Amino acid sequence: MLEHKSIRKYIDKTPTDEVIQTIVRAGQQAPFASQYYSVLLSRNRKRNPFKAPLLFTVCVDSYKFERIMAKRNWKIVTNDLTLLFFGIQDAALMAENMVTAGRSLGLGSCFLGSAMFRAAKIAEEYKLPKRVFPLVQLAMGYPAEDPSSRPRYPLEFALFEDRYPELDDEKVARAMTQMDEGYLAQDYYKKMNAKIPLEDEKRKETFTYDDYSWTEHICRKWGQWYPEPKELLEQLEKCGFNITEKQKK
Ligand SMILES: Cc1cc2nc3c(=O)[nH]c(=O)nc-3n(C[C@H](O)[C@H](O)[C@H](O)COP(=O)(O)O)c2cc1C
Repeated sequence: MLEHKSIRKYIDKTPTDEVIQTIVRAGQQAPFASQYYSVLLSRNRKRNPFKAPLLFTVCVDSYKFERIMAKRNWKIVTNDLTLLFFGIQDAALMAENMVTAGRSLGLGSCFLGSAMFRAAKIAEEYKLPKRVFPLVQLAMGYPAEDPSSRPRYPLEFALFEDRYPELDDEKVARAMTQMDEGYLAQDYYKKMNAKIPLEDEKRKETFTYDDYSWTEHICRKWGQWYPEPKELLEQLEKCGFNITEKQKK
């Protein structure tokens, strides 16, 4: 697990059914609040992102559970926001178990976070019933690349014992440096050509791929994108989840 790295290039070899089933079984064995997920599989290499032999779509699934409740003559009363919080945890733990199991069998993988914004389209494609929400996709296959592990924050910026510490500027700067230098040393954003353009004309572009790195990238994401949850709420609603006006506020 300490050597984990996302893999975005795959050799032309299809994992066997046994390998696939073992990986998904390992995913299922993750701790769960309610097994509030389903996983869809596509082996359509031509269409899958990164031409991956496998594409898993991990969904938060209330439909299946509501079928169980109906058989017991119960109806769900828990609100969808609470269900989604639990469901996202179940689905994420399951998906990460699949990553780890895949790796132990020689497979690499890469998550794709755009699924939730394309949820209604994915739901149509896979004929998902209402109350099933595509949360995240996971491309998987035998690796055709072996990149270095990507950096993480220093432990002092992640683990706080007994109380949340005073985060002085130096500690913040150390964490930023570790991330930025780590990604720059791998030419990560340059190789992916992944610089996020500036949207506000008042900000002048001063970065090149020689100094554009993780902290600038992540600031441009969360400093420019999705000020309103409108797109996500639309996708949730199309998939049959209902967030009340009060909850939206
Ligand atoms: C929820 C989520 C969404 C992600 N979406 C994408 C994506 O759309 N494209 C991509 O290339 N990598 C994606 N990743 C992979 C991250 O970029 C990667 O995990 C991160 O840069 C750390 O690198 P590592 O996994 O190699 O350690 C995603 C990861 C997560 C957990």
